[in-house]
Amino acid sequence: MTGNLRITSLRGGAIDAIRSADLDRKTALAQESATRWFERRVSLRSPLDAALPDRPGRPEKPVLTPPTQVEKRSLHTLKGRIALLHAIAHIELNAVDLALDIVARFATEQVPNSFFDGWMQVAFEEAKHFRLVRARLNDLGADYGDLPAHDGLWQAAHSTRNDLTARLAVVPLILEARGLDVTPSLQAKMRQTGDLESAAVLDVIYNDEKGHVAVGAKWFRFLCAREKRDPAKAFQELVRANFRGPLKPPFNDLARAEAGLTPSFYRSLASISHA
Ligand SMILES: [Fe+2]
Ligand SMILES: [Fe+2]
Repeated sequence: MTGNLRITSLRGGAIDAIRSADLDRKTALAQESATRWFERRVSLRSPLDAALPDRPGRPEKPVLTPPTQVEKRSLHTLKGRIALLHAIAHIELNAVDLALDIVARFATEQVPNSFFDGWMQVAFEEAKHFRLVRARLNDLGADYGDLPAHDGLWQAAHSTRNDLTARLAVVPLILEARGLDVTPSLQAKMRQTGDLESAAVLDVIYNDEKGHVAVGAKWFRFLCAREKRDPAKAFQELVRANFRGPLKPPFNDLARAEAGLTPSFYRSLASISHA
């Protein structure tokens, strides 16, 4: 099936995936573009590439709501576990488009090809995560789109659309690092309920996400070194300018440090809140 996907270039494949409102096609395109890029069967850019849209393609459902309107339920009920998995599916779907947007939007940056290798590995894995979580929702008699979902994640992409260093500060080093903080307790709670299949899905996600933060930290430090900026100071400035919301402790300092994100980056930001 995926052999039939027309991909003009890595950037073209990423843009086509971002534009797609069909989520099977979107995730297949993300993975096929990654595979062809890893095998060096496509160029980075082509004049045939479509235009990058302001917003990613999305199906009619789920209905998007402000974050406060998404209700929280106990994981000890089936409804509660479905609500959590639905929220995670939504985050993973946004993560697919966010990784692809880094590749497509910043394809003209003067960076080594390994920059695009790293972000396409992330895009590939986010597509895998979305499919895993959606399959688990299906096992539980539900599907992505059954519940409302919040509409805040794309804002981070929009506000950093002209600045790759700022994009890396906010997307992998704030949003994805947050996943490292909250996922271990969700894994434990899911195991307590006896839903080991859902816990196993969270395990896959958690292990991959450490790598995503590491890709973010690696390229954030690369850009700072090139611009002769102190990375911790640059991080704090860029987060203050581009991220509206609190940085909530407790932090998973060990997992963050393993990924190259040390407390000197985020500790002093922990109390800020413009919300
Ligand atoms: Fe993910
Ligand atoms: Fe991720």
